Amino acid sequence: MRIVVAPDRAAAAQHAADIVERFVNSAVATALGIATGETMEGPLAEIAGRCQRGALSLAHTEVYLLDEYVGLKPDDPCSFASTVNRLLVQPTDLSPGAMHGPNPHNPDLYAECADYERRVRAARIGLQLLGIGTNGHIAFNEPGSSLASSTRVVQLNEQTRSDNARAFPDGTCPPRAAITQGIATILLARKLLLVACGQPKARPVARALEGPVTRSVPASALQLHPDVTVVVDPPAAALLADEPSQPCRQA
Ligand code: F6R
Repeated sequence: MRIVVAPDRAAAAQHAADIVERFVNSAVATALGIATGETMEGPLAEIAGRCQRGALSLAHTEVYLLDEYVGLKPDDPCSFASTVNRLLVQPTDLSPGAMHGPNPHNPDLYAECADYERRVRAARIGLQLLGIGTNGHIAFNEPGSSLASSTRVVQLNEQTRSDNARAFPDGTCPPRAAITQGIATILLARKLLLVACGQPKARPVARALEGPVTRSVPASALQLHPDVTVVVDPPAAALLADEPSQPCRQA
């Protein structure tokens, strides 16, 4: 595992975008797995900026979402599909048909989850972007999730709903349920890139990277993967006991 402490949030976003750019331009580029959330806004904006300047093209990239809320209207701007459409499809040359996610409006959610699991496996994710919840979740695998889990409908815990309320209009609460790739699904990606910024991420980052591998801290499953890069800013790195394995390389 490589841990990169970037000087600040903007540098962390640039460093993450560098890794995505190298992946997209590599000969072995396969599908790109995308996370959403506040932390990802910086890296996605950086990637979109590079596309707009002509320095990067996503024309041949397929992207797969990690998760999606269940219970929002199809055109709700807070859905993860709407968010990725706004942040990555509209400002770049990524084709709208190249963005894939689970359909939370399928009346048979069980079949939808099985189908999305099959599609993600068939896509062979080459690089998977990840954020981490303050409760240690990855995607929407909440504490207690099996490390062998696959794509399924989950109930969001109150910590997650309260953290994510900032992305919803005042007075609106995030849904109680979501579809998420499972932990085993995520671990199938060839490379994982976790980005975490800000003091609220210090404890989950330390528990995930330096604590025991346990279903109580779903992100601790990253320790089981052979190719993980973690990009953090200094507040998120504050509780790490070990020195980062690599200094930040500026773009
Ligand atoms: C969402 C996802 C989540 C977020 C996590 C951190 O697609 O995968 O695991 O990455 O909740 O969210 P922020 O960055 O908003 O703190």
